Amino acid sequence: MSALKNLLLVGGTSDIGRSTALQYAQAGWRVVLAARNPEEARRNADDIAARTGAEVTVELLDVLKTDEFAGFIDRLPALPDTVICVVGELGDQARAQTDAAHATSVIRTNFEAPALLLSLLAERFLIRGSGTIVGVSSVAGDRGRGSNYFYGAAKAGFTAFLSGLRNRLAASGIRVVTIKPGFVRTRMIEGMKTPGLLTAEPDETGRAIFRAAETGRGDVVYVRPVWRAVMTVISLIPEPLFKRLRL
Ligand SMILES: NC(=O)c1ccc[n+]([C@@H]2O[C@H](COP(=O)([O-])OP(=O)(O)OC[C@H]3O[C@@H](n4cnc5c(N)ncnc54)[C@H](OP(=O)(O)O)[C@@H]3O)[C@@H](O)[C@H]2O)c1
Repeated sequence: MSALKNLLLVGGTSDIGRSTALQYAQAGWRVVLAARNPEEARRNADDIAARTGAEVTVELLDVLKTDEFAGFIDRLPALPDTVICVVGELGDQARAQTDAAHATSVIRTNFEAPALLLSLLAERFLIRGSGTIVGVSSVAGDRGRGSNYFYGAAKAGFTAFLSGLRNRLAASGIRVVTIKPGFVRTRMIEGMKTPGLLTAEPDETGRAIFRAAETGRGDVVYVRPVWRAVMTVISLIPEPLFKRLRL
C-alpha cells in the first residue's frame, strides 16, 4: 500500500484551487483535480506536475449533476485523505433578482452541490474512520448584503452545513474545516476595486488553506485574519441601522 496521501480538489480550474493544489503537490501529495472543463484542468495539472514532480490527474465533474456524485466517487483512483471544495459562482445579483434560472445556478453552485458532494464523501470517510473535509465558503455568508444576497445566502447555507457536519463528526476524528476568504485577486472579482489590506493573493490563499487543513487546528478560518474583526463588526450592526447602509 502506498504511503502517499491523496487530495481531491473540486474546482480544479479555479485560481484558488490551482494555488491550493500546488501546495499539496509540493508537500508530496497525489492530487486529483475535478472540473467540468477537463482541458483547462489538465493545463493546471500539467503545470503543477512539472513544477513539483507530483502525480496530478483530472476527473470530469459538473457539480450541478448531483445524481452523478456517487459514481464519481466510486471512479476515483483512491478515496481521498482530504477533499477540498472550492467551486463557486459569484453570479450577477441584479440579474438573479428576476432571472430564476440564474439565481438557481448561484444557489445550487455555492450551496446545494458542495453540500451534497461533501455529504457523500463524509459518509465514506466515516466508514474508513478518517478524512479531512474542507469547504471554501465566504465572508459574504456572514451577513446578507443588498449587493450580493443570493451569493451570500448560498454561502451562509454552505457555512451552516459545514458547521452541522463538523458538529456531527466531531467525535469520529474526521475534521471539517470552513475557509472564509475575503477578497481574493482571482478572475471571480476581476475589475472590482478592493482595498489592498482586505485583498489576498491566490497563492496566499492556497497556503492558508493547506495550513488550515493539514497543520492547523482551527475550524473556521478567515484567510486574512483582519476579516474576522471586520465581519464581527458588520454582524453586530443593528438591523435598523444596517438596512440604511449601502453595502
Ligand atoms: N475571489 C474571491 O474574492 C472570493 C472571495 C470569497 C470566496 N471565494 C470563493 O472561493 C472559491 C474559488 O473561487 P475563485 O476566486 O478561485 O474563482 P474562480 O476561479 O471563478 O473559481 C470558481 C470555480 O468554480 C467552478 N465551477 C463553477 N460551477 C461549476 C460546476 N457546475 N461544476 C464544476 N465546477 C464549477 C469553476 O469552474 P469553471 O472554470 O468551469 O467555470 C471554477 O473552477 C469559490 O467558492 C468562491 O466563492 C472567492
